[in-house]
Order: sequence, then structure tokens, then C-alpha cells
Amino acid sequence: MKKQRLDKFISNQLILSRKIVRTGIQRGRATVNGTVVRDAGAIIDADNDSIVYEGAAIGYKEYVYILMNKPKGILSASNDKSRKTVVDLVPEHIKRQGLFPVGRLDKDTTGLLLITDDGVFAHNCISPKKAISKSYIAGLDGAVNDDMIIGFKEGVVLADGTHCKPATLERISENVARIIITEGKYHQIKRMFGTVGLGVNTLHREAIGGLALPDGLNAGECIEMTKEQLENSILNK
Ligand code: URA
Repeated sequence: MKKQRLDKFISNQLILSRKIVRTGIQRGRATVNGTVVRDAGAIIDADNDSIVYEGAAIGYKEYVYILMNKPKGILSASNDKSRKTVVDLVPEHIKRQGLFPVGRLDKDTTGLLLITDDGVFAHNCISPKKAISKSYIAGLDGAVNDDMIIGFKEGVVLADGTHCKPATLERISENVARIIITEGKYHQIKRMFGTVGLGVNTLHREAIGGLALPDGLNAGECIEMTKEQLENSILNK
């Protein structure tokens, strides 16, 4: 049961200023269950009432879940004074207030990034207790050898003494490797490769748990998903 003010509901759903919506409501542009309501502060039940504003029905979703193919050069943040963020790239028809990225990819990292306004879901995804796997393809400035594969499996100790959980390292070609980790320390993969003298030229996240970046979703594009889809492929894996 989601009871709230009519003007707040419409402005949040349509990302319109509260002032504009209030004026619109006072001019008779909103109906609740077919009746014009001119009181912007009227309390509505977003789960059960049918709200129409300027002729368009407004569906209520408590939270939204967005899968993005993060492009290079974009900040994993909700907003920034001068730089473009992943939330800036979310298409207007999905965008709403309160969106944030679930965990962070470095500015130069590409690939699968989730964006939501559901704090509990995000917490579950990144909680170390859940140990959800994250699979990356790394372009390196040198070759991966068997000792590195064994060392990553045993658990890398970073330069500052931080212990990483066991990770899977797989050679794909001479200078390209797949690495799967189950935690998300700051710059973790770059720092892990740093311990074996390898620099990371490119980093691309291909999957989180059983959720893979869909084929054909170009860099910068998003798709909206349901919580159930994500939970089934990520949290229940
Ligand atoms: N590890 C990194 O070093 N960078 C990322 O963006 C993600 C994991």
C-alpha cells in the first residue's frame, strides 16, 4: 500500500517539477479513478488508484531496475558537477529520482552495470556475505602464466597487505584473460594484476552471477528489467 500526495506521485513518476505539476493539477489536468482532482495534496493509493495526468495513465512501480552496457569514460555515480555519469545516460522514459549504480565500475571500465533506486536490492548484490561472482575480460600488457592462475586461486595479497578471496583466472589469448571475483574492493582487478607485474589496458564486465550482458546491447544502452528477473539470475545463483 503506497499512500502519498498526488503532486509528489506525478512529479516523481514523470520527473516534472512539483511546482509545474501542482499548477497542472489545479487546472484540472489530473484524474483519480476517473474524477478530476484539483487538490495537489490529495492522498492517493499508488497501488490501487488509477491516476491519469494530461491524458496519460501513470503506472506505479515502487522501484526500477536497469541494466546498462556502461561505456568507457563515464563516471559510475548518480550525479557530478562537471562530468557525465551513468545515471545521465538513462533514457528519459525510465529515469526517475533516486537512481544510483549498484557498485562501481572505474571510469575506463566498460560492460554490465546495474542501476536502481532499490537500496535493499543493491545492498544484497554487493554484500560480501552474498559472494556474488563478477566476471571480467581484461586486456593486459603481458601474458598470464600458470603461476598467476594458481596464485589468484589461492587468494592474492594486494600491495597494501589486503587479502583477496580466491579468484578464477583463465587465459583467453596471449594478453587477454577472464577473471572472476566475488568481492568488489576499490580498483580490485587492476591491483590484483599489479601484484604480478601486469598492467590492465582494458576491462569489461561481462556478467554478474548468472546475468550476462545481453548480446546486441551497445555501449551506453540500457534495458529495464524486473526485480524477479534480476533476483533469479543474480541472487538465487
Ligand atoms: N576492478 C577494477 O580494477 N576496476 C573495475 O572497474 C572493476 C573491478
